[in-house]
Amino acid sequence: MRITFLGHVGMFVESSVGSVLCDPWFTPAYFGSWFPYPRNDTLDPEQFAHPDYLYISHLHRDHFDPDWLAAHVDRSAQVLLPDFGVPYLEEQLAALGFVDVVRCPHGVPVDLDGLTVTVLAQTAPADGPLGDSAIIIDDGTTRVLNQNDARPGSAAELVDRGPYHAQFVQFSGAIWYPVAYSFDAPTKAKLAQAKRRNGMDRARQYIDWVGAAHVFPCAGPPAFLDDDLAALNDFDDDEANIFPDQRVFLRELADHGYRNAHLIVPGSVIELDAGDARVTHPSPSAATEPFADKRAYLAAYAADWRDWLVAERSGWSSGRRDLVADLKEWFEPLLARAPITSSGVGGVVVLDVGEGAVAIDFVAGEVRPWRGGACVYRVETERALVEACVERHIEDWVNALFLSARFVAHREGPFNEYVMTFFKSLSNDRIDFVERCYAELRDVRDEWFERDGWRIERFCPHRQADLMEFAEIDGERLTCALHHWEFDLASGECLTSPDRVLRCRRIGERS
Ligand code: FES
Repeated sequence: MRITFLGHVGMFVESSVGSVLCDPWFTPAYFGSWFPYPRNDTLDPEQFAHPDYLYISHLHRDHFDPDWLAAHVDRSAQVLLPDFGVPYLEEQLAALGFVDVVRCPHGVPVDLDGLTVTVLAQTAPADGPLGDSAIIIDDGTTRVLNQNDARPGSAAELVDRGPYHAQFVQFSGAIWYPVAYSFDAPTKAKLAQAKRRNGMDRARQYIDWVGAAHVFPCAGPPAFLDDDLAALNDFDDDEANIFPDQRVFLRELADHGYRNAHLIVPGSVIELDAGDARVTHPSPSAATEPFADKRAYLAAYAADWRDWLVAERSGWSSGRRDLVADLKEWFEPLLARAPITSSGVGGVVVLDVGEGAVAIDFVAGEVRPWRGGACVYRVETERALVEACVERHIEDWVNALFLSARFVAHREGPFNEYVMTFFKSLSNDRIDFVERCYAELRDVRDEWFERDGWRIERFCPHRQADLMEFAEIDGERLTCALHHWEFDLASGECLTSPDRVLRCRRIGERS
C-alpha cells in the first residue's frame, strides 16, 4: 500500500485493489482563519484527481473542501458514505456531482472487490457537524486506521478490528476553547495548558490501545495567517498553546519511548508493506523548513495568500441587515421545536455585533434586540460575519463562525454543550434530529461497573463513553478521559456541566 499525504489529514491511498482519496483540504476554511500546515498549495492536484473512491470523514471545512473537490476530482469516484443517520454529507457531495455512493454501515466491513473498508460513524449531537467518522482500509496485506478527528468512545471498537499496520491520529487542538474566551490571562493560560496536555494524552491513549506498527500524527494544527489570528500559532513550543505541531508531539512520543512514530508533510509518500514502513519526503528541506523557523515560514506563507485574504474579507457581507428581524424569522420556529435543547441552554445567548445586537432567549423562545442584561453566553464578533451566516443561510454556524475563532466569548458558568448544538442545528430537520437524540440519551442504560470502592454507571453522561475504559478515578473525583469531563463521585455532580449527573455510590451504601 502506498499513501501520499496531502496535508492536515488528507491522503491518497493506493493499492493493487483500488485507491481512496480521503479528506483532501486545500482551500482556507472558516472565513479565512485556518490554512493547512505545513502548506500544501504546491502539490499537483492532478496526481490525486482520479481515485476509485472518495471518503469524506465529516463536513467540517478542514475535511470537506467543496471548492477543491469541484475543481479537481473526477465525478466517477464512488463515495464511501458514513452512516450518520442524517443526509447532509450525501446531499452536499451530490450537489457537487458525486452521486455514486457506497453506503458503509457503522462498523461493518464492506468488500469492494478486494479492498475492504470499515467506516466507524459517530452520531451524537456533539459529534462534529452532526456526524464524524474514522475509516479502516485493508487491501488484503496491509490494514490502516485513519482515525482523523473521530474519538470512538470504546477502545474495543478500534482494537477488535485490528491489528493495524498504521494509524493516523489527531493530537493538536481544533477548537476555539479557551483561546476565544474572555478569561483573564492567567486563567486562560492554565486552561490552555490543560487543553494541550489533554489533547496529547488522549492521542497517546489511542496509540496505546490501537497498537499499530506505525503511527502518523496528523489532522492539525492549522496555520493562522490572518494578522488578527496570528498569535494563535504555536511559534515557541508554548506550554499554554493549544496548537502544538507535529514536531512537538513526536518529541513527546519519543520521550515516552515510542519508536514507531513518523513525521509526514504534504507530499510525503508512505510505502507500507505489511509491518514495514518507508517514508519519503518530497524534498530534503520539506520536513524541516516548516518547523525550523516557524515565524519566517508562516510570514512567507501569509504573504503569498495576502490578496486572497483581502478578497475573502471583502466577501463576508453584501450589506447591512436587520439581524434581529432576520434571526427572529429564522430562529423562533426552531426554538419552538427544541424544548430539550432550549432547557439545556436555560437562558439568553447574545450575538453582540455592537449596535443592533441580538438576544436569543431560550426560555421565552424569542429573538429580540439586546440592550444589556444577563445572559449565559455572549459572542462578541464582527457584524459582517453574522450577516454572512444569514445571507448564506448557513445551517451550521459552528462550521463557519465559531471555528473561525473570530470572536470573543463571554459565558456565565461552565461549558454548555446545548448552546453549540443549537448553532449547528439551524434547520427544522437538524433540530428535530438533535431533539430525538437527546430524548434517547435520557433513556439511560442500566449497566454498572465497580472500581476503587465505587459502583458507577458504565456510560458517561456526556457522550456515552464506556467508563470501564475511560474513567480515571482519583479519590472522589472521576474524570472521563474522552473529553475530560469531571464528576464528584460522592454526589454524582458533574463539575464540567451541571446539567449532567453520574449515577454512582460507594459500595456498601444503600442506593
Ligand atoms: S464522553 Fe465526553 S467526557 Fe465522557
